[in-house]
Amino acid sequence: MEEEEGEEYLFKVVIIGDSAVGKSNLLSRYARNEFNPNSKATIGVEFQTQSMEINGKEVKAQIWDTAGQERFRAVTSAYYRGAVGALIVYDISRRTTFDNVTRWLEELKTHSDTTVSRILVGNKCDLVDIRDVSVEEGKALAEAEGLFFMETSALDSTNVKAAFEIVIREIY
Ligand code: GTP
Ligand code: MG
Repeated sequence: MEEEEGEEYLFKVVIIGDSAVGKSNLLSRYARNEFNPNSKATIGVEFQTQSMEINGKEVKAQIWDTAGQERFRAVTSAYYRGAVGALIVYDISRRTTFDNVTRWLEELKTHSDTTVSRILVGNKCDLVDIRDVSVEEGKALAEAEGLFFMETSALDSTNVKAAFEIVIREIY
C-alpha cells in the first residue's frame, strides 16, 4: 500500500488471462465506459488509473493490462511487481481459456511477493447460446483456489464495476 497526500491511496491491480478473453474491454468498460467490438490484441502493457470512494476516502487503483499472447507480453516480473490485486479472466464460451486459469494462477503466485486479492472472472456472460463453461464450474474453481468469483460482460456491462471493486475493497 502506498500512501499519497494524506487522504489518497494507490493500489496496483493486474488483469491476466488468455488472449481475447476480454481483458482490455473489461478495463475500458470500467475506466471509460467504452466497449470495442473490434479491439486488437494488446501489445506490451497499458494501464489506467481509476478512483473510487471507500468510507469517505478516495482510493485509486492503477490497473494494468497486458497481452494474453506470449509473444506480445511485457516483461513478466515487472508486470506483477507491487501488485496487490488481480483479476484472472477466462471466456465462458471457450473452455481452453478456463483450463488455463490454473497456469495464470501459478504465474501470479511465482511473481507476487505479498498477499494478492484475487477474483476469478468469467467474461462474456452475454454469450448464453454458446456457453462452454457453467457458472457452477467457475464457482467451484474459485472456491477451491480461495478466489472471489463473478461472471461479467464487458459488452453489456454486467458486473464489470462490481468485479473490479470487490478486489479493490478487499485490498483496502
Ligand atoms: P489480448 O490483448 O490479446 O490478451 O486480448 P484481451 O483479453 O484484451 O481481449 P479484448 O478485450 O481485446 O477482447 C477480445 C474480443 O472479445 C474483442 O472482439 C471484444 O470485442 C470481444 N469481447 C470482449 N469482452 C466481451 C464480452 O463481454 N462479450 C462479448 N460478446 N464479446 C466481448
Ligand atoms: Mg488486450
